[in-house]
Amino acid sequence: MKGIILAGGTGSRLYPATLAISKQLIPVYDKPMIYYPLSVLMRAGIRDIALISTPRDLPAFKALFGGGEELGLNLSYIEQPKPEGIAQSFILAKDFIGTDSVALILGDNIFYGEGLDKMLSGAAELKDGAEIFASRVVNPAAYGVISFNKDGKPLCVTEKPSKPASPWAVTGLYFYDNTVVEAASRLKFSTRGELEITDINNFYLSSGKLKVNFMGRGMAWLDTGTHEDLIKASTFIESIESRQGVKIACLEEISFQKGWIGRETLLKRAVKMKGTPYGNYLLNRDAEGLWK
Ligand code: TTP
Repeated sequence: MKGIILAGGTGSRLYPATLAISKQLIPVYDKPMIYYPLSVLMRAGIRDIALISTPRDLPAFKALFGGGEELGLNLSYIEQPKPEGIAQSFILAKDFIGTDSVALILGDNIFYGEGLDKMLSGAAELKDGAEIFASRVVNPAAYGVISFNKDGKPLCVTEKPSKPASPWAVTGLYFYDNTVVEAASRLKFSTRGELEITDINNFYLSSGKLKVNFMGRGMAWLDTGTHEDLIKASTFIESIESRQGVKIACLEEISFQKGWIGRETLLKRAVKMKGTPYGNYLLNRDAEGLWK
């Protein structure tokens, strides 16, 4: 399975912070925002990843990650000239996807919680159909919202409804079989001028091929589109990291655990960041004998 991180957009709700840099490079507590969605794909076992962003911001992502070798990844980069919708990813990444199935995650989405790894590895096995993740939110009108029939089966997804049919929002993590490439090429622009991911989800739903994973109370889904969201996400990550002494979205740790990089590569990166909480975390864990 291939992976895509969609990290373009204008980030206009974060102006002036994003007038000159990508939203996804702004830190959420102690690391760039993009680390969180990248960690999700890695935890799903996906190593072939394309990062889609704007012509302005792509060079900065390349400077951050390069080809991905030091993280045990194979990274490629694709330009999205204009933010013409989430579903445009599959058109832009057609050659990259080839004949594989594909996971797409939005660059400003953070997932955390018990049971996530199990959900992710299940979805990464997907060969036929689609899997999406839904989370209960207090402001569903800001998202794609799922409506249900009287037996509780998903009926359809409505993009940013004025009267949401349920509190269940579609999160920014999607797994599709290869049909998605063809389905995306047939999409028409919506009235807001975007190729809508909701149309893709409804396409799979109407053919009985959409599995919705409902995220329970033990899982957190945060997006970081506004200054309030951003500070809340930073506080959330800081509380868990400082209380439990673990790091969330520590890419070197995940890669080591997956067996993609060895101790030497991990320590090389750790030494580069020595003196920071992130670098010291990697070095202290080495002293505890963890990277064996
Ligand atoms: P949004 O938050 O909808 O848009 P934005 O990031 O441009 O922010 P704003 O509304 O403040 O202007 O996008 C959600 C995520 O999807 C975000 O990570 C950016 C990404 N995205 C793209 O990369 N290209 C697109 O065409 C769209 C619609 C979104």
